[in-house]
Amino acid sequence: MTGLNTEDLPFPTLRIGDEAPDFTARTTHGEFVLSALRGRWVLLFAHPADFTPVCTSEFITFSKQEPAFRERDCVLLGLSADSLPSHLAWVSAIEEQYNVRVPFPIVEDPSLEVARAYGMMDVQAQSSATVRSVFFIDPTGIIRTILTYPASVGRSVAELQRTLCALQEVDRSNILTPEGWQPGEPAIAPPLQTQEAVLKAGPSWFLQPKKPRP
Ligand code: BEZ
Repeated sequence: MTGLNTEDLPFPTLRIGDEAPDFTARTTHGEFVLSALRGRWVLLFAHPADFTPVCTSEFITFSKQEPAFRERDCVLLGLSADSLPSHLAWVSAIEEQYNVRVPFPIVEDPSLEVARAYGMMDVQAQSSATVRSVFFIDPTGIIRTILTYPASVGRSVAELQRTLCALQEVDRSNILTPEGWQPGEPAIAPPLQTQEAVLKAGPSWFLQPKKPRP
């Protein structure tokens, strides 16, 4: 026990396993309700600000890779504190300058309601910028992965795709995924639960391969 009263913290702390706070918001694709996406995976990702270089590079790759997420029934959902007109202007500029259409909605959050609920605020920033937060929300509305990057470091969209594949494989096959696991590679078995199983497995009982279901 630390004696820390989490209600005194400036923002709530969401954890893996928590239900994703629901919200209704205006987006570049119209009004949006998060809970309407139950039954599908959601990758909710915040960026610090529109028209900034790292964010633009991320959006170009997210846009190009969106079909791969869609194939895995995962909806991409961007978010920042910028207004809807700013998002729309940025999306148009990306299309004009880089010939890339942003195919997923971007939430406007000028009141920071969503950013606060998800703990996406950069507490060190002088502005209302959100940090580069990533939340994987599963089809039942539960947060399964949380990642946070500083404004200065761009995310790897390939790593996010890998994480989605791993989450889906873990759910499907009752396996765990080792370091750097890629789809199709061998996985590992959950920790053994009985002495009998440990003795049967031999000296490497603590790291046992397990094939995902075909
Ligand atoms: C960027 O995306 O390049 C960026 C955003 C906020 C602060 C610094 C850089």
